[in-house]
Amino acid sequence: MMKHVARLIASAAIVAASSVAAQAEEFRLGLITPPPHIWTKAAEAFGAELSEASGGAHSVSVFPARQLGNEAEMLQQLQTGALDMAFMTVAEVSNRAPELGAFYAPYLADDIGHAGRILRSDTAKSLLEPLPGQVGAVGVGYGMAGLRQIVSRGEVTSADDLAGLKLRITPFTPILDFYNAVGAAPTPMPLPAVYDALANGQVDAIDMDAELIWVLKYYDHADTIVQSDHMMFPMVGLVSAKVWAGLSEEDRAMIGDLMAKHVDSTIDSYVANEAGWLEQIAGTGKTYTKVDASFFGDAIDEWNATWSEKTSSLEALRATAAETQ
Ligand code: BEZ
Repeated sequence: MMKHVARLIASAAIVAASSVAAQAEEFRLGLITPPPHIWTKAAEAFGAELSEASGGAHSVSVFPARQLGNEAEMLQQLQTGALDMAFMTVAEVSNRAPELGAFYAPYLADDIGHAGRILRSDTAKSLLEPLPGQVGAVGVGYGMAGLRQIVSRGEVTSADDLAGLKLRITPFTPILDFYNAVGAAPTPMPLPAVYDALANGQVDAIDMDAELIWVLKYYDHADTIVQSDHMMFPMVGLVSAKVWAGLSEEDRAMIGDLMAKHVDSTIDSYVANEAGWLEQIAGTGKTYTKVDASFFGDAIDEWNATWSEKTSSLEALRATAAETQ
């Protein structure tokens, strides 16, 4: 009898020890943005709040600026469970989940606030549901960066001036299709490589957002900024599906809710700051022009024709865009 009790106590102790070990986690979160970027700050704030909410049981080490690899590599690491979490461009995820490409319909969003409302819609949320099966990661919610603009080393007075230009793009298909339709020579290049490429003339122009143009001084090596606002640029908070499967219900709720809150906070940051960055860029003395959809001529119709065949979500997103105007 005593032996039996001792065995029970011993096995209870093992269960208790292993459940403590299973609950306390040191998560690693990767992203490609530099330390001062809004996404990186949001990742750090998420880590701090998770640590506090879990009474110090959980911690998050944030690895910015591509320290763990580029986004394609990080997505692979999430799939195998080698990486726990990431704040990632929807652009990269869309390379493996093409329905997400519909977010990049040129001028789907009228302005930055509208982009935020589209991303906060149920339609947008529903597009995250298949991600565990498609990319091996759970999408907890959206964030975003600013609308896309064009920065060029030479003069750009019409879309004809973009013809044949080596124009840096984020590596994903919808933007590649867009600039091919424009007649440029789109050059896929991950964010951390862009500054030097523009400075040394490896590319003639870049597709970029106001925060990075201003904060990282991309305008330094350019003559012209075209404020075209041609696309929104969503981000998604991801947790490895393998890691997620090993979490308790309670931890999933806490981590999911807190990560969703902090990725969502980036939407408010861009809505609040975008106009100010653009004003400051316009004040640099560079040639600054503001254009609309008509600047790109037929390229937009061409993009729409291609992508309404490639995705079934475009129509639903357009309806949502109309409802949230
Ligand atoms: C880019 O590829 O331009 C980009 C990536 C992450 C955040 C913002 C911009």
